[in-house]
Amino acid sequence: MRTTVGIIGAGPAGLLLARLLHNAGIDPVVLESRDRAYVERRQRAGILEQGTVDVLREAGAGERMDREGLRHDGIELRFARRRHRVDFPALTGGRSVMVYAQTEVCKDLIALQLKEGGPLMFETEALAVEGAETDRPRVRFRRGGAEEGAEDVLECDYVVGCDGFWGVARSAVPDGRTFERTYPFGWLGILADVAPSHDELVYARHDRGFALLSMRSPSVSRLYLQVPADTDADSWSDEQIWDELERRFETDDDWTLRRGPITQKSVTPMRSYVHEPMRHGRLFLAGDAAHIVPPTGAKGLNLAVGDVVTLARALAHRTATGSDDLLDAYSATCLRRVWQAERFSYDMTTLLHTAPGATPFEDRLQLARLDRIASSRAAETDLAEAYTGFPIG
Ligand code: APR
Ligand code: PHB
Repeated sequence: MRTTVGIIGAGPAGLLLARLLHNAGIDPVVLESRDRAYVERRQRAGILEQGTVDVLREAGAGERMDREGLRHDGIELRFARRRHRVDFPALTGGRSVMVYAQTEVCKDLIALQLKEGGPLMFETEALAVEGAETDRPRVRFRRGGAEEGAEDVLECDYVVGCDGFWGVARSAVPDGRTFERTYPFGWLGILADVAPSHDELVYARHDRGFALLSMRSPSVSRLYLQVPADTDADSWSDEQIWDELERRFETDDDWTLRRGPITQKSVTPMRSYVHEPMRHGRLFLAGDAAHIVPPTGAKGLNLAVGDVVTLARALAHRTATGSDDLLDAYSATCLRRVWQAERFSYDMTTLLHTAPGATPFEDRLQLARLDRIASSRAAETDLAEAYTGFPIG
């Protein structure tokens, strides 16, 4: 097989890149190791920054998002039984966020790709990226159901690794530098068939641990609670989960947490990770293949969007002018935004989670940081600007 751009991975990064390139007159081939149902069902992110919403609309992939997505103008911080609302438009000159799950973004992009785009090959596993330093990089891959050892090769002008943290593309970048931090806790996440108990997201810092109230629709709640990193989701009964969430959301007023049947339960590990550079020759890395953020800042999907918007612009520029200047600037351009998101995600994580072994002094520091945000427009603005999104490119 032969194509201009070979994309490994059909998560948000790979699917949006394929759409942006299609709109620029370039039709890539997308290789995805899992089946369509897995990609469309994988519960992960839920918040779209203003910039991401704009990109999806401009790419012709925002119609259902605008119909079904929930626009949110703020979040609530909850600590020491207090409630403080952060007003995004007032602090950022009108920016807000959209609650619309990455599962829905992927469904919309897959439908468009199958209708108008180039080949989207599910159950097709990329085995290796070769020749990235040449002008004819290639991807060795195995089609679903092929005999053991039966391999194909995709000849490309460019290869983009959108294959997530556990993919193969990153290993084809020699001499990469990695920067990493793991955390001694993770998130136990649930989906529940119950109307959200608040109309915006609630981030709670409690002596017993962090809790987050989010949502998927007016009738489906998404909630998380901090647990030790090695927790088995099945070790928590539904009642234990609701009881613990109730404790961590406690306030001095009469707010109550509505309960309902839990339909999904899983534990997400917590990690900060950056791989530099995000390019080697004609191989580019985008999204989780290049960087991971703890989910506290809701940055993962939005960072992937920034990467692929920057890369699609650079590839279209190369096709139109023959100039490599934007491709040569890709890694540095993305990493500047990546590190801002890493800083914000780390700050939000250390602000709201009770680290095992934290001293009473450190506990008081957390409360002082939260009190500062609740009482200083400058501190609150930093959070609002970061949460609603860093400029792309
Ligand atoms: N060959 C083909 N496909 C692969 C391979 C491989 N060797 N390895 C991984 N994949 C596929 C995975 O099955 C997955 O569908 O690549 C895709 C990677 O998708 P994501 O992990 O979602 O990564 P990305 O697209 O960068 O999305 C980043 O989106 O869901 C949010 O917050 C989440 O941070 C995450 C962000
Ligand atoms: C989600 O709805 O899944 C979600 C929302 C905000 C976060 C993380 C996850 O910070």
